[in-house]
Formats: sequence, C-alpha cells, structure tokens
Amino acid sequence: MTMTRNIYPIYDKMMTRADKEALLHQRGMMIWFTGLSGSGKSTIALGVERELHARGLLCRILDGDNIRSGINAGLGFSADDRRENIRRIAEVGRLFVDTGIITLAAFVSPTEAYRTMARTIIGDADFHEVYVSTPLDECERRDVKGLYARARRGEVKDFTGISAPFEPPTRPALDIDTSRQPLETSVEQVVELIMKHQQ
Ligand code: ADX
Repeated sequence: MTMTRNIYPIYDKMMTRADKEALLHQRGMMIWFTGLSGSGKSTIALGVERELHARGLLCRILDGDNIRSGINAGLGFSADDRRENIRRIAEVGRLFVDTGIITLAAFVSPTEAYRTMARTIIGDADFHEVYVSTPLDECERRDVKGLYARARRGEVKDFTGISAPFEPPTRPALDIDTSRQPLETSVEQVVELIMKHQQ
C-alpha cells in the first residue's frame, strides 16, 4: 500500500459543492458568532435565519441547544473541552458549508486560538467572524440563565468573563454591541454581510 492510495474513493463519486450550490441557488458560507454568554449571538442568528428563509435561502443554526446537548454532550468548560467543542462544531459546520448551506454558529469561542482553528477547518474564504461585543455588565444584567449570579457566588467554575478569559477578536467582519442598537439593526447588518458574499 502506498501513501498516495485513496482510502476514501467515494469522495470522488459524490456530487460536488458546486452541484449543490447550483441546486440551491446560493453559496455555502459560515457566519461565526463569538461573544460572551448572554451577549445576543443566538438571538441575532435566529433573526438572520428567519430573514434569509423568507428570501428563499437555506440556513442552519448551530448553537448550544443543538450541539452541547447532542454531539457534544459530555464536554464541559475546561480549556481542553472547549477546544474539542469548537473543533467538532467547525467540522460539522464544514459539512453544512460544503452542502451549500448558510451556516450560523453561535458559540462563546472565547480565544483567538479556538477561532483560528475553526477558521482553518472551515477555510478562510468561507469563514466570516461576527463579534457580538455586548459588554460584560450588560450580559450580567440580563443574566437570562442565572449563570452570572451563580458564577459570582463561585458555584460555576471557569465562567467566561468572570473566572475564565474572553479574548475579543482583533479583525472581525462585523462588531455588534446589542446594548447600543435594536435587534432588527443587528439582524440587518449580518444579512447585509451575507448577501454581499452571495453575489
Ligand atoms: S465555548 O466556550 O465552548 O464556546 P459554548 O458557547 O459552547 O462555550 O457554551 C456557552 C454556554 O454554556 C453559555 O452561554 C452558558 O449558557 C453555558 N455555560 C455553562 N457553564 C459555562 C462556563 N463555565 N463558561 C461559559 N459558559 C457556560
């Protein structure tokens, strides 16, 4: 057996990404939201999905509800687990993008290293980073899941922004502070970014 032997010959026979994009009349891409817990990532993604669906575009949201409770059940919040969480999400995301689907990933993804890994797996040309930069005090004020209060009491360890780091991205495609503008504006900005890359 040589190193060059193709052990996955089925790949050569599959319909291509271009075939699928032609079928769907759209281009696959990844919108990668990053930001603190409670910053508004999933809420914006939901609005974007609705808007694009209404325009006849096929989307898929990946977020904690469908990933951490399913394929990544069993992963926690240590640095190693977060890295594995992001790696699997990026690999799954790549399959969606390769199917021509506009994919919206809403995860804290707190470090530059995790996000670079995701970008590398998905491919630079398809990866568009949206930083939801809602400040910590606002996320904590909202405390939708009551986790900030618990983290402050020391009941949740390694909580991002409290007892674990968050590194803001240096050059996001978009920076959205949801404490400064209505949801509709944030949704519009992301839709505009997507449509720019659909042409
Ligand atoms: S990531 O760091 O691995 O990207 P992910 O986005 O999947 O995180 O999950 C974050 C969500 O899990 C938060 O919105 C919060 O609801 C919940 N959570 C539970 N424990 C923690 C923790 N220690 N740090 C951050 N989020 C946590």
